[in-house]
Amino acid sequence: MNVNTKDTNTNDVDTEVANRSDDPGDVTISRRDLLIIGAAGAVSAATLPSLAAAQNAAQNSAGPAPALAPSKVSFKVNGKVHALELDTRTTLLDALREHLQLTGTKKGCDHGQCGACTVIADGRRINSCLSLAVMHEGSSITTIEGLGTPDKLHAMQAAFVKHDGYQCGYCTPGQICSAVAVLDEIKQGIPSHVTADLNARPPLNAAEIRERMSGNLCRCGAYSNIVDAITEVAGRTA
Ligand code: FES
Ligand code: FES
Repeated sequence: MNVNTKDTNTNDVDTEVANRSDDPGDVTISRRDLLIIGAAGAVSAATLPSLAAAQNAAQNSAGPAPALAPSKVSFKVNGKVHALELDTRTTLLDALREHLQLTGTKKGCDHGQCGACTVIADGRRINSCLSLAVMHEGSSITTIEGLGTPDKLHAMQAAFVKHDGYQCGYCTPGQICSAVAVLDEIKQGIPSHVTADLNARPPLNAAEIRERMSGNLCRCGAYSNIVDAITEVAGRTA
């Protein structure tokens, strides 16, 4: 590209046009053009602050943005129907913990990375921190509180206790909900990433259990005991 500046006055326009090359890469700019461009830029720069001030004034006079109207949602949790009015941005996890006081389901990362918030929704395990409550209209949700009670533990809860499948216990509700759903998935013949034969029923072995439980992290490292507990409930030896 060839950019030239040269001294011209208004009478130079024709000459300048005549001197323009047919090559689109060649650009010839006169001093007058530069002055015009510069003046336009200066006007814009001078105008911008006043435009910004006008926008700020308009926003201030409008006041804070109006709150979103709550949405109605109704779903079953552990067999009981709940009708809620929620901000549409409320996650299922927050609806369970903050609105229904079902605090057995834990919030770990709140980003779908740890599995502490796992619940069973319509038979499938999900990370409740990644799911909006309003998406579950009519759903049937099972949390750790719905699996068993201290007096009458679910078989998976009893096996976790027996095999020391936890230490601090923070990940345990999610681990147990996940484990219950995993055995159901295997029973239904749903393959996992490590299932070799997609036409056969997935085997119930340690590799399958570890792969299927890989979304549930345990900072205490109780993994081998968790596998033992799940294996016992499945009625097989890993
Ligand atoms: S809190 Fe939901 S995956 Fe960690
Ligand atoms: S038992 Fe502590 S994080 Fe799993």
